[in-house]
Amino acid sequence: MTEGNKVQSTTPHICQSSIFRSLVHPQEISNFIEEIVGRALTNPEALYLLVHRYTHFNGYAGPLVGILAANIGLSRELFHDPHEEIRSLADRASLVARYVHNATIDEHGMGISNKKLPHRVLAQGTLKFIAEFAKLNGSRQNKLSQAPSWLSEICQRFISGYQGKAGDIEELLLAMGFHAASEMLADIEYAAIDRALRINGKDSSFARYLQTRTRVVVGDYQINPYIWITAHACHDRHGVEHDHYEDALRAIEMAEHYSSVDPKEFLNWIKKGFQKFITLQHLLFSFIREEITENYSYSFPLEEIVTLPSIQVRGDAQ
Ligand SMILES: [Fe+2]
Repeated sequence: MTEGNKVQSTTPHICQSSIFRSLVHPQEISNFIEEIVGRALTNPEALYLLVHRYTHFNGYAGPLVGILAANIGLSRELFHDPHEEIRSLADRASLVARYVHNATIDEHGMGISNKKLPHRVLAQGTLKFIAEFAKLNGSRQNKLSQAPSWLSEICQRFISGYQGKAGDIEELLLAMGFHAASEMLADIEYAAIDRALRINGKDSSFARYLQTRTRVVVGDYQINPYIWITAHACHDRHGVEHDHYEDALRAIEMAEHYSSVDPKEFLNWIKKGFQKFITLQHLLFSFIREEITENYSYSFPLEEIVTLPSIQVRGDAQ
């Protein structure tokens, strides 16, 4: 089936990427993550912990993007073409949903050639590789990979913030802002991790070990142990996360065009969701930093450590 030709819209968009860029400090985020990875590189077990925590959290992203796309698609009554008088021809939720859905296709990785693997499997390849580098036996891996309570709490917030709710425009727009932030930050995060591991840490024992191994086995698959990072972003080029962010912006633009929400309220909900994710990701890396630095797990409430690191979130979503 071929796609139809799009009739060009002249509607101005209120959610341009410059608004989102004004809410974050990419260089500070990058510096913060590079510093954490640099610390982890000094101890193989700390590197394992860092990658376990990050992959554990990010393993929810693919399925959650799918749920958000589904909840948007189920909300046909919320998104209409104002120029179409026939109601059964006017709903446009599917056009909003598809730009979110694109990311979950990448995350699950079938591909035309049937060769691409789910990113979760690629992440497991990287984690297994680091376990081998750190010489961790099975029982030690099982002990270290028990999710501490702070990680479970952060993941729960990730799960609840990402999905939106079918038929509820406020919940959907909050989630779409949340989603856009997750894609924007992922592009920064993976590039920073790669830079810390292969550029800043080029003389580390891990970087040397990486050059000796080209494959690791996960289940029935042989995987490049580093492809999980470079598929998402490299220190010198974008990967799929940049595309996902661009698609997240397109989804928001479509939602703006086809919803009847007041533009100011629309933007407030999107920005609020965007900042909610930035704060959550900040919490995640703050806890990882504390864990690998002090080998100490904080007790609740999580908000008590939000201000610990130097990074501050810009702007005001209220
Ligand atoms: Fe993504």
